[in-house]
Amino acid sequence: MEVKKIGVVGAGQMGSGIAQVAAQAGFEVVLRDVEERFLERGLAAIRRSLGKFLEKGKITQEEHDAALGRIKTTLSFKDFADCDLVVEAVVEDEAVKAEVFQELDRVVKPEGILASNTSSIPITKLASYTGRPEKFIGMHFMNPVPLMVLVEVIRGHRTSDETTETVLEVARRMKKTPVEVHDYPGFVSNRVLIPMLNEAIQAVHEGVATPEAVDAVMRLGMNHPMGPLELADFIGLDTVLAIMEVLYQGFSDSKYRPSPLLKKMVQAGLLGRKSGEGFYKYDEKGRKIS
Ligand SMILES: NC(=O)c1ccc[n+]([C@@H]2O[C@H](COP(=O)([O-])OP(=O)(O)OC[C@H]3O[C@@H](n4cnc5c(N)ncnc54)[C@H](O)[C@@H]3O)[C@@H](O)[C@H]2O)c1
Repeated sequence: MEVKKIGVVGAGQMGSGIAQVAAQAGFEVVLRDVEERFLERGLAAIRRSLGKFLEKGKITQEEHDAALGRIKTTLSFKDFADCDLVVEAVVEDEAVKAEVFQELDRVVKPEGILASNTSSIPITKLASYTGRPEKFIGMHFMNPVPLMVLVEVIRGHRTSDETTETVLEVARRMKKTPVEVHDYPGFVSNRVLIPMLNEAIQAVHEGVATPEAVDAVMRLGMNHPMGPLELADFIGLDTVLAIMEVLYQGFSDSKYRPSPLLKKMVQAGLLGRKSGEGFYKYDEKGRKIS
């Protein structure tokens, strides 16, 4: 199936980025959120990002204007009726996503594909809220969407080959590199990354080394652009904990047990950059101060 029109549900950090790259790739885009002010905030982020590309000479004024012109915003699900593909990027809450997919299943034309940008909820489970599991798939974009090249494409248990092929092609048109994976807890990205961060936290907990020392080992020794504790602060320690819990419960395997230090820091409200303190301290602009 040729995709011409893409719907995006949720105009937050991820949804606005997905709408932007879809519009830049020439797709017609409908972006929905629950309140006008969230749509405004999403559009402002898109304008900012496109403005930076223009400033750096990465796109022309015509491309900038054309991309913005392809994005329509709405508060109604009805505007998704003729979308060929709808990507959901609402909050990471299964009950909210279930409601969104039930509604999408009702309004989107029967041949339309439904995709979720979830970081951790099983695709097969989300597909079960619809009557079209063969047309349901995971499209896991990375943050910030306009800059990061990977899209992890997650096949649910009943996703068809045709749906997978169509979505891989859409991702390529967005100038992304799609990588196909199967639906297991954490997919590949979070299954490999998050336990590494948890292990770094556990090393600090056991007094093996300070956060600075653990980060230096991984930056200088493994050529990681950021140390694992800096990265955990950047992602948000609550998010890191939530994903460890998904792995721990999903595999019923103690090797994914969250570090007690991680749990304690989340309980204490030390969530990393967004709360001003995690393993490091940050100013109000999110810059590391110590
Ligand atoms: N932030 C990341 O680094 C990242 C990376 C990959 C995947 N994800 C996933 O992407 C999804 C979105 O994350 P985010 O960081 O953009 O969150 P966010 O909080 O920035 O945005 C979520 C948006 O969804 C809107 N929303 C809530 N219910 C809605 C509904 N019923 N209809 C329409 N809009 C609705 C909210 O108003 C908000 O604007 C989550 O599933 C998250 O796990 C996030």
